[in-house]
Amino acid sequence: MTCFHLKTTPKEGIILLVSLICLAPAILQAQEKSPPDPANFTVLSQSQVVAADNPTASAVGAAILEQGGSAADAGVATLLTLGVVHPFASGLGGGGFCLYRDAKTQKVQALDFRETAPGKADRDMYIRKGKADSSLSRYGGLAVATPGEPAGLYALHQAHGTLEWADVVDPVYHLAKDGFYVGQLLPKRLESKRKRIELLPEFNAAFSSAKQSDEYVKAFELLKRPDLAESLKLYRDKGPTPFYSGEIAEAIVKSAQQSGGVLSMDDLKNYKVSWRTPLEGTYRKDYQIYGMPSPSSGGIVTLEVLNILEGFDLRKLGYGVQSVHLIIEAMKHAFADRARWMGDADFVKVPVKHLISKDYAETRRKKIKTDGVLGLKEYGTHAPPKDDDGTTHISIIDKDGNMLACTSTVNTSFGSLVYVPKWGIILNNEMDDFSAQPGVPNAFGLIGNEQNAIAPNKKPLSSMSPTLILHKGKPFMVTGGSGGPTIITGVIMSILRVIDFAQSPAEAIVSPRLHHQWMPEKLFFEGTKDGTLEKELEQLGHTISVRSSYNSVQIVVVDENGTITGVSDPRKMGRPASSSPTHTKEDSP
Ligand code: GLY
Repeated sequence: MTCFHLKTTPKEGIILLVSLICLAPAILQAQEKSPPDPANFTVLSQSQVVAADNPTASAVGAAILEQGGSAADAGVATLLTLGVVHPFASGLGGGGFCLYRDAKTQKVQALDFRETAPGKADRDMYIRKGKADSSLSRYGGLAVATPGEPAGLYALHQAHGTLEWADVVDPVYHLAKDGFYVGQLLPKRLESKRKRIELLPEFNAAFSSAKQSDEYVKAFELLKRPDLAESLKLYRDKGPTPFYSGEIAEAIVKSAQQSGGVLSMDDLKNYKVSWRTPLEGTYRKDYQIYGMPSPSSGGIVTLEVLNILEGFDLRKLGYGVQSVHLIIEAMKHAFADRARWMGDADFVKVPVKHLISKDYAETRRKKIKTDGVLGLKEYGTHAPPKDDDGTTHISIIDKDGNMLACTSTVNTSFGSLVYVPKWGIILNNEMDDFSAQPGVPNAFGLIGNEQNAIAPNKKPLSSMSPTLILHKGKPFMVTGGSGGPTIITGVIMSILRVIDFAQSPAEAIVSPRLHHQWMPEKLFFEGTKDGTLEKELEQLGHTISVRSSYNSVQIVVVDENGTITGVSDPRKMGRPASSSPTHTKEDSP
């Protein structure tokens, strides 16, 4: 991966010329129908790896590792870079979750910097004429929840960073100020929202081509984001304070309110991140799984599915109709529980212990029929998932064995589309992750009930699933992804493919994904070449909708010899990066 051996000089920024040269083959490869060449989306290292869904972001993170930074330092720089180059997915106007395992203390912590509902939000704020108006929870100021990203990344660095804060943020400031070569995704995402963005002069101007101002920037063109660079400069020099009580905070509130929102200065002043205890479980005895607790559903659903599946010998069955049927049935049970029970556990009672217990899994497992599906209500008591253009995930292991999994989002593509002029920040539309009205699906076709109803300062239920796995107590896998509810099933499939089906990390990521969220009664499947598996599954009663590239998963896996493989999902044209092995295993503490 020599093409990503970028040298950073913190005060001068990063020389990113190489990214254009190195991106081209990866892009061409990803567009081909035959499977992409692993060389374009994997990296091997004896030392440390960053796997993000954008090559520039991985490269910036790897450069921070090369300077001696920890996984937390690299994670901050990588996520900030993603906010610059993939602003449709995440950024300072959004929020997210991280899991961090400190190699020295062996402690795993969960960091929650999810956005919160404004103090003036109320249960029926999107109801018009008796019905939820989804355009209000998806676009404009009313869709905006209090951003957590600036506070969250700072908290991650405060707790686990080793480099100076300014040295971690500075390269990203330079990237925004001096420019970066645009990849394939940003122009596509801009185009898909053209009708709405065109009505927003400052937003439109920020992504216009330097060559032709009435066109959006194109792939391979240099894009500078001077407004966002100003935010990053203040962030570098003053930390998160200006975003929560200073001049950026005032601009955020003004933009949200001018476009119909209720976000206030008090909401920003009162915002706090939470360090939480991660959910913990085992899989096939030797694997310890750490998942994200509430307000995400990711950890519960992942553990429930794995608990159900460990009662079946998937390895013996091999990957085929029998094993895939069992996997789908386990997903349906867990997603039915998601709809019935899950919401922000700081506000509503969620029976977490019960849902992730082995005993409960056994009751679900016993209901599964090997020769067919059950009636809808037998999975639980209570809309195809849309493409998730928002959200990003990074997986990192550093030279000391610290593990980091972070998923961050502005929710759907470019969030609420509210742009904060002068500061270049795009505000999230995370309010759409609440159940605006019981029984009415959100942007992802997910149905919820009162558990996930809107309340002031409550957090909307998430599917983001940063996950860490140890094998016999040693770092084994960091995984997570983007794709709304398909995040959870993407993460589960990455685990099953590596552990049960013994696939290489690269194969585990390129192999076809499948997703079932109980309702609608449909299996979303990327499909096989000859369609045999689809036909066999249909015979068992599954309704299949073949669709491609609905999520993106980044993994880092350590093999028994200590070699670390990073894989970025070629579906999103991601590419991991590694710094040169400054530290061999023998040197490690
Ligand atoms: N905004 C997508 C999620 O949190 O699940």
